[in-house]
Amino acid sequence: MPPTTAPLSATEPNYYYSNLDQIEGADGVWDLGYRLPEVQKYTSFKPDDEVIDLGCAEGLITMEIAPQVKHIRGVELRPQRVEAAKQIANDRGIKNISFEAGSVTTLELEIQSYDVVLFLGVFQHLKREDKWMSMVKVFSAARRSVILRMPLFHAKNPYRTTKLAELCQQMNFTLTIYPRLEAHGGSFMIANRMGAD
Ligand SMILES: C[S@@+](CC[C@H](N)C(=O)[O-])C[C@H]1O[C@@H](n2cnc3c(N)ncnc32)[C@H](O)[C@@H]1O
Repeated sequence: MPPTTAPLSATEPNYYYSNLDQIEGADGVWDLGYRLPEVQKYTSFKPDDEVIDLGCAEGLITMEIAPQVKHIRGVELRPQRVEAAKQIANDRGIKNISFEAGSVTTLELEIQSYDVVLFLGVFQHLKREDKWMSMVKVFSAARRSVILRMPLFHAKNPYRTTKLAELCQQMNFTLTIYPRLEAHGGSFMIANRMGAD
C-alpha cells in the first residue's frame, strides 16, 4: 500500500534540514548542528551492523552513520525529502545506504531484523492511535538497540515516561536517558536489549 503522505501543514516546509545547499528550493529550518551532537556523543555502532533510520528526513544523520556500519536504510514519509536524500548520498558517493518513502505506521518490519533502529523525532508526529503501536514495532525490529529522541516529559501526556519504561520492561530492554545537549527536540535515549551482544 503506498505510503499515505499526510498533507503538509500550511506552515511545514517541504524539507526538514536547513543544511541542504545542493537542493533546489530547500526551505528546511532545522540545523543539523542541533541534531547530530547527541548521536555522535552517545551512540556507537559495529562495522557489520544492519541499521534502519525511521523518519530520516533528508538523511543527513543517516549518512553520518553509514561509514560506521555495513548498511543503513532510511525510511521517510515525505517523497521529496527521500529524493533529496538520494541525491545527496549519490553526490557524496555513499554506497552502503538506501532511502525509500514509507510510513512507520504501515511499514512491515520483521522481528529483530536490524541490529540498531533509529527513531529520532518521529513519535511526536504520529497520530495518537499510532504512537505506541509504532513504538512496539520499533522495539521488536531491534536486535540490539533502539536510539530514540522524543519529548519525554510532556505536560499533556504525563504517562509517556511510565509507558516507555513499561514497554522496555515488558520487551526486556534497558533504557538510558541522556543529558540534553540541545534545548530542542526531546530527550535522547538508547534502549538496549538485555543479553544482546
Ligand atoms: C522531526 S523530523 C526528524 C528528522 C531526523 N530523524 C532527525 O532526527 O534529524 C521527523 C521526520 O519524520 C517524518 N515522519 C513523520 N511521520 C512519519 C511516519 N509516519 N513515517 C515515517 N516518517 C515520518 C517527517 O516527515 C520528518 O521528516
